[in-house]
Amino acid sequence: MEVKSVLITGTTSGLGRGLLQHYAEHSVKVISVNRGRVAELEAQYPSVRFECVDVRSAEGVESLVRDLAASGDLPDVFILNAGINRLDNDEVFDLPLYREVIETNLYGALNFIAPLTRVPAAGVARHIVAISSMVNYAGNPYGLGYYTSKKALTACFDVWADMYAQTDLVFKQVMLGPVQTPIYTMGDQLPRWMVRIKSLSSASLDGTVRAISRFARTRKRKLIYPLRALPAFGAMWLGRRLIPGFFQGRKTLDGRARRRPSGDRDPMR
Ligand SMILES: NC(=O)c1ccc[n+]([C@@H]2O[C@H](COP(=O)([O-])OP(=O)(O)OC[C@H]3O[C@@H](n4cnc5c(N)ncnc54)[C@H](OP(=O)(O)O)[C@@H]3O)[C@@H](O)[C@H]2O)c1
Repeated sequence: MEVKSVLITGTTSGLGRGLLQHYAEHSVKVISVNRGRVAELEAQYPSVRFECVDVRSAEGVESLVRDLAASGDLPDVFILNAGINRLDNDEVFDLPLYREVIETNLYGALNFIAPLTRVPAAGVARHIVAISSMVNYAGNPYGLGYYTSKKALTACFDVWADMYAQTDLVFKQVMLGPVQTPIYTMGDQLPRWMVRIKSLSSASLDGTVRAISRFARTRKRKLIYPLRALPAFGAMWLGRRLIPGFFQGRKTLDGRARRRPSGDRDPMR
């Protein structure tokens, strides 16, 4: 398929910004969806249509999709990219932070699906790409919202990919490993060996943008990128099953035992 128009969420930085630049340079019509206006970005890309919508707002997203459908401007590719990561499950479980992550990463994508499934089929394929993550294979227990939002996102897109196979709605997802972007990664708090493995297996922004734009044109369901990061997640998955306590969050990130009555000695030390 030749991509003529694309909608991308979260284009102020990282992957979304890279995709915006890539498509704009290739003369593809771009609709960029951000929660705030960035004058510098809008000035740099005068051909791009900037929409100011917080992806957490079901009403805002629904009204955007409805307007695009009514004016015949629904794009042929949607890249549901906006996402955040937070430290929401360290010393205590922080419900408001957890909820913020779920609302952004999970509902921020799902809010597009409800109105899109209501748009009547018009014989034009619409590719809907979710940016999920390799945390599906081994998540970080301290970023529980991130881990569970991406698991749920992947489960939803797996179901829809089957359910809408051979229709105009093509559900697909990217299982993304580490990419060099400004997203919060807890890098300053995680064990040093883990940060090192992550950075050794991480992909460049340019390479990731190229891989995603190639994938978006096809009817393939899943892109695992970069493949070289997969063994690290596999090893983590195995480690958790074989080594008691391995990266299961039994200690707080600063090394203290969990829920020890005050005055007690840490039995693990
Ligand atoms: N980088 C990685 O290693 C990695 C790995 C796996 C998966 N991913 C996924 O890749 C996607 C892009 O991440 P990134 O690394 O490029 O991160 P990033 O540089 O932090 O960019 C995230 C983008 O999402 C936007 N956003 C956040 N909340 C939003 C909201 N409520 N409404 C609209 N936009 C919102 C941000 O805009 P503001 O400026 O308004 O905050 C920003 O433009 C995410 O879904 C992430 O989970 C990244």
